[in-house]
Amino acid sequence: MTMDGVDPSLPHRVGVLGGGRMGAGIAHAFLMSGSDVVVVERDDDAAAGALDRVASAVAKSVERGLAAGAEPLLARLRVSTDYADFADRGLVVEAVPEIWDLKVSSLRAVEERLEASAILASNTSSLTISGLAAELQRPENFLGLHFFNPVPASTLIEVVIAKQTLPWLVDAARGWVAALGKTAVVVNDAPGFASSRLGVAIALEAMRMVEEGVASAEDIDNAMVLGYKHPTGPLRTTDIVGLDVRLGIAEYLESTLGERFAAPQILRDKVARGELGRKSGKGFFDWD
Ligand SMILES: NC(=O)c1ccc[n+]([C@@H]2O[C@H](COP(=O)([O-])OP(=O)(O)OC[C@H]3O[C@@H](n4cnc5c(N)ncnc54)[C@H](O)[C@@H]3O)[C@@H](O)[C@H]2O)c1
Repeated sequence: MTMDGVDPSLPHRVGVLGGGRMGAGIAHAFLMSGSDVVVVERDDDAAAGALDRVASAVAKSVERGLAAGAEPLLARLRVSTDYADFADRGLVVEAVPEIWDLKVSSLRAVEERLEASAILASNTSSLTISGLAAELQRPENFLGLHFFNPVPASTLIEVVIAKQTLPWLVDAARGWVAALGKTAVVVNDAPGFASSRLGVAIALEAMRMVEEGVASAEDIDNAMVLGYKHPTGPLRTTDIVGLDVRLGIAEYLESTLGERFAAPQILRDKVARGELGRKSGKGFFDWD
């Protein structure tokens, strides 16, 4: 860290494409570490929403005593609707919705505006990083930076390396993650990376155990919480993530990694009944 709070290992000028839940959190993380941040949104309304989200994250950091005041941070933030604002950025992190065609078209549109040496990253939680890289002009300058939700409270970032990624970028990305005050897990691009693949594998087995009547959801979760010190059991985590979201990931992992990720019938039945977990009031547990 230098005297002005800037970590020299971070790119000085960072861009974030899409200022939704994740993009706003990512922008906040870079602002807190001293970078100058541009967030680009799809239209003026979305830009106003993005600005609100980043400003409220900054306000919370000030309340918690993690930043001296909001103004110096917000002075380093610009929110716009113009991709040309990425032209002077050393790193741009894409955080638009998880739709393949949208990711490809947005990443290409950003890349067109970047200097040849700039690095482009995606915050995708499931799409193939090597596949996205193959759609770009400079695939070697591309990697995955998978932040977790909510970004300020999560200390993990998965650094996902495509087949094409320049080797030095791995160490550079580790440095950026450390400068953001988080811990990097480096993963070679593979479906579900490390976190979703393992998390979903445990959850699917837990569901099969409920289905077979091995134990109650409560007891299965307690086995992992008390026996293995998981902060939350796999079924409660599934309720929090959303059963529909987990079903989508299981289907994707089954199609890429094989039958061991096939969704148990109990998961399909619950989703069909609208028992989606916390957001619907019922999943493997009652949330009322
Ligand atoms: N929400 C999570 O828990 C979570 C966790 C890790 C990773 N992710 C990944 O992060 C990405 C974003 O997810 P999110 O939850 O923040 O979504 P979100 O819907 O909250 O935000 C997406 C933002 O992108 C903007 N956008 C859409 N099209 C755009 C375009 N063409 N140009 C610029 N901006 C555009 C939208 O206006 C919106 O603000 C996805 O790839 C998702 O898989 C999400």
